[in-house]
Amino acid sequence: MERQTVTIDFDKIIDRRNTHSSKWDNMQADYGVSPDTGIPMWVADMDFRPPEQVDAALAADMAHGVYGYYDNPTSYAAALCSWMERRHNWQVDPSWLLQTHGLVNALALCISAFSNPGEGVIVFSPVYHWFGTIVRANDRRLVESELVQHDGVYHMDLAALEAQLTGDETLVLLCSPHNPGGRVWSAAELGALADFCVKHDLMLISDEVHNDLIMPGHSHVVAPLAMPQAHDRLVTLVATTKTFNIAGGMTGSMVIPDDTLREKLAKTHRAAGMSVNRFGMVMAEAAYLHGDDWLDALLVYLDGNRQLLSDELSLIPGVSVMPLQATYLAWVDFAGTGMPAAEFINRIQTAGVAASHGSTFGAGGDSFMRFNIAMPRAQVATAMQRLRTAFSDLQ
Ligand SMILES: Cc1ncc(COP(=O)(O)O)c(C=O)c1O
Repeated sequence: MERQTVTIDFDKIIDRRNTHSSKWDNMQADYGVSPDTGIPMWVADMDFRPPEQVDAALAADMAHGVYGYYDNPTSYAAALCSWMERRHNWQVDPSWLLQTHGLVNALALCISAFSNPGEGVIVFSPVYHWFGTIVRANDRRLVESELVQHDGVYHMDLAALEAQLTGDETLVLLCSPHNPGGRVWSAAELGALADFCVKHDLMLISDEVHNDLIMPGHSHVVAPLAMPQAHDRLVTLVATTKTFNIAGGMTGSMVIPDDTLREKLAKTHRAAGMSVNRFGMVMAEAAYLHGDDWLDALLVYLDGNRQLLSDELSLIPGVSVMPLQATYLAWVDFAGTGMPAAEFINRIQTAGVAASHGSTFGAGGDSFMRFNIAMPRAQVATAMQRLRTAFSDLQ
């Protein structure tokens, strides 16, 4: 495919106040931080425009001006398959796809299709808060397998998980790469998890919404390539929403190569009355087709923000930043400050920075805060300066 040269101004500050932005317009209510002076580092979307081809695709739809039901998804599926082959070396057959209203919706459909009320659903915590919320909301038993730290990064502890099993577990929800913690699981780690699922007859759902957001020096392996032994128990969830900052389009896909699993999931999908959102599909197709250069530039920019945050916060005694291998969500441990969570949270929010509280990610998260760094670098710099001042008594 011909690559176009694009100039992207990630430094441009875009005013998102009063635009129905969850991140900006809920900051006051949720964190007591004013959107007029504060810096929102919580909700996982970016303060950047998407690739211009995404805008152009929407503009073409608008120029036509009739917004009826969307069909058929053939060109979307072709664009997705071509992206997976180009970026992940993964050959996806279009017939393996089912579309969803985002990936939390996909997780809910998988829970409905592959488990029953009362059964155990395993997550590796701390993890993206919706994993626990949706398991509980579906009346399943949440089984938290706490991640352990070696060499400063998270690892799964499958031996501990095995000891925790009671026999009613049917499903594992994996976040790959991991949010929070920014961990890229190695092929060996994924293979060990696949063996575990085969041994204990568990279904495995790999949420890969962050799988394009890999920091330089790391590489991600999509679940189906790392876990061939789990072929008949694996669903992989993919989307353009995080990668290209089009989360409002609420569009994702479930990839299910196994016919029997796919038929089962398709039944649940039908039962829930699923259909696609025209605008999400239009944006996603354009992003898959034309987003390479934009994404490559974004990753370089995010890596610069990652470095800035890491350099600045490492100057505060007792604060430690988990090395960010993927995602734009830095996971920062305040345990070494000796402060109770209420105190470091209060200092951060009083300084005008809204970051996600670690406790919301479940077991093991209490001493952490999660900082979204996907914003113009000047704003990251301001936020870091505020945090340095907020903890200046420690320095
Ligand atoms: C692991 C993970 N899955 C899903 C989502 C949300 O996906 P969607 O907006 O497509 O429902 C997020 C958002 O942060 C996430 O981190």
